[in-house]
Amino acid sequence: MISEYKIALKSIGKYDPNQIEDYITIGGYKSVRKALSIQPEKIIDSVINSGLRGRGGAGFSTGLKEKFTNQSKGIQKFVICNADEGEPGTFKDRVIMEQDPHVLLEGMLISAYAIQATKAYIYIRGEYTESIKKLQTALKQANEKGFIGKNIFNSGFDLDFEIKLGAGSYLCGEELTLLESLEGKRGYPRIKPPFPAEKGLFGKPTLVNNVETFAHIPYIIEKGAEHYKSMGTDDSPGTKIFTISGDVKKPGYYETEMGVSLRELIYDFAGGIKDNKDFYAAILGGAAGTFVNETVLDTPMAYDTLKEKGAVLGSGAIMIMSEGRSLFDMTNSILEFFKHESCGKCVPCRIGMPQLLLIMENVKNNKLERLEALNLLLNESEYMAKSSLCPLGQSPILPIKSLKQYFENQF
Ligand SMILES: Cc1cc2nc3c(=O)[nH]c(=O)nc-3n(C[C@H](O)[C@H](O)[C@H](O)COP(=O)(O)O)c2cc1C
Ligand code: SF4
Repeated sequence: MISEYKIALKSIGKYDPNQIEDYITIGGYKSVRKALSIQPEKIIDSVINSGLRGRGGAGFSTGLKEKFTNQSKGIQKFVICNADEGEPGTFKDRVIMEQDPHVLLEGMLISAYAIQATKAYIYIRGEYTESIKKLQTALKQANEKGFIGKNIFNSGFDLDFEIKLGAGSYLCGEELTLLESLEGKRGYPRIKPPFPAEKGLFGKPTLVNNVETFAHIPYIIEKGAEHYKSMGTDDSPGTKIFTISGDVKKPGYYETEMGVSLRELIYDFAGGIKDNKDFYAAILGGAAGTFVNETVLDTPMAYDTLKEKGAVLGSGAIMIMSEGRSLFDMTNSILEFFKHESCGKCVPCRIGMPQLLLIMENVKNNKLERLEALNLLLNESEYMAKSSLCPLGQSPILPIKSLKQYFENQF
């Protein structure tokens, strides 16, 4: 039986998150001290060689993002932690921030030094009051110790932190919209390119990473890229926190090596399907994710292997549906969510989201056959994917296409 392997969660339960002294006793801030004695470019090389990919959903190489930001010219640069955690079914970042806030600060400090950032922001979901409290305490204590602020560990490197509360919209977790929001503007997306590495916050080079991504950085600095790469799969090294919800006996968060199968996650980690029922479907990656059936149970849970199956890993959210659950109802609530979160800036998404729900409504009113409805949803969402301004309008195609692939006759 496969077991948990912890990197992002490795210090959880081992120290009191309100006591920095406790954290130091278990080796806290050693990685920062080590990193500040190394050339920034060498740190970036390590992160590139480790193969770490962003844990926020897109899975882009973290080291390459650091490299591009480092190479962008500018006196002022920013590092931002995306702690908005809005993807339905995702609750991993909260665990890190509430129970190990210092690992996040360490990861951000090292990354900021690597790109030579002058300021760090944590953009956090406003509802996460406990995380905010824990981070405030951690920042105060780290400041008093001289671990943040001026001339950190006598390296000549300075870094101030600021916590900013999110604006309360799913879209504000999208990195370019997040930048607008952080600048005090309405949460509308920006057009890419330019990417944040070139023109980010206030037009300056900016590195935006997810909480879990930052939590891997101190470990990579401590143990080295080769060790990190020895875990997980070739295309997705390291570990991942999977948040499992729905019809399982032990819903929760579990960290293990990438490449674990969905079957192992359900039966070895989450205790199996509730009420002794059979597995029916899983939604991988949240609302902007994909439905899969039992043929994916033994596929390694990693970015590229899932992609080959038409599925996504996303943020690591896994929602389990047992036999008897309605795919139609689940699809309806996903589409309701998207409609609610659409910002209305562009026509294809503003008009397209209600259209998708109208198709669902017509099924409920017996005006449309389900299979016909699925084909219409696919058509409409394909059009939206091609013409919407930002990734939100391009998202409904993911669950809908996967329904067509795996559940065409059961919708
Ligand atoms: C609609 C939308 C919402 C998102 N919400 C989040 C979020 O809450 N947290 C997050 O880390 N990334 C979120 N992302 C992904 C970010 O845009 C971005 O890819 C991520 O912050 C990059 O960090 P990483 O490379 O460490 O994954 C979202 C993306 C989209 C399209
Ligand atoms: S795709 Fe949707 S969320 Fe994105 S800009 Fe257009 S209306 Fe707004």
